[in-house]
Amino acid sequence: MEIIIQDGYEAISTQAAQIVAQTLNAKPDAVLGLATGSTPLGLYKELIRMHQQEGLDFSQVTTFNLDEYVGLPKQHSQSYHYFMHENLFQHINISEQNIYIPSGTTSNYQAFCEWYEQRIVECGGIDLQILGIGSDGHMAFNEPGSSLGSRTRIKTLTSQTIEDNARFFESSDEVPVYSITMGVGTILEARKIILLANGAGKAEAVAAAIEGPVTSMCTASALQMHRDTIFLLDQESAGNLKMTQYYQWIQDKMPGAP
Ligand code: F6R
Repeated sequence: MEIIIQDGYEAISTQAAQIVAQTLNAKPDAVLGLATGSTPLGLYKELIRMHQQEGLDFSQVTTFNLDEYVGLPKQHSQSYHYFMHENLFQHINISEQNIYIPSGTTSNYQAFCEWYEQRIVECGGIDLQILGIGSDGHMAFNEPGSSLGSRTRIKTLTSQTIEDNARFFESSDEVPVYSITMGVGTILEARKIILLANGAGKAEAVAAAIEGPVTSMCTASALQMHRDTIFLLDQESAGNLKMTQYYQWIQDKMPGAP
């Protein structure tokens, strides 16, 4: 794991965008795993800028989103389909047929989940996965208690996540109770992972994920088992970490590493 602590949100967003761009420059037909929520908005904004001003090319890229609310049609303003088109896809040159987002309205969820897993494999696996983290330590919608070997499936949201996400809806009663989400096991198969976090509200979850035990009570802690994960944090979200000085020391010494 690499822990990078930056001054603020803009810096983590820019650095994440640079890693995405490096990935696409090395492999123009890379498979990206994408997240929704407030956290990756700055990253998506920067990717749009890089596309428009620097010609960053998405024409051969395939994307798989982490999750979707069950019951929200694609055109619902809070669906993750809508979010992705509004905040990224409609502004870049990605091919519509290369975009995969779990369906929140399929008639057969089990079959859909199996198909989604199979499509990831058929597309060659995820090269770079973008993640946020929930205040309860979830990644995607793998709430506390999710199996660390879980695959794409239906997951019941916790009341904390419903409360956290109520800010996007008229009231918490309108937040769907169920989601369809990639599993922890699915995410861990990505070749490279970047988890972004900002703000003091994430400090406890970030510390549990990085320095706590590997436990299904904080599913992001499973990233300790992954061999190429970068945590990109602002000062506030890193506020509860105990080893901050060492993480900074590593960054300072990196240019001279053999
Ligand atoms: C979204 C997702 C979630 C969010 C997490 C943080 O696709 O998978 O795990 O990353 O809930 O959400 P924000 O960024 O809104 O704080």
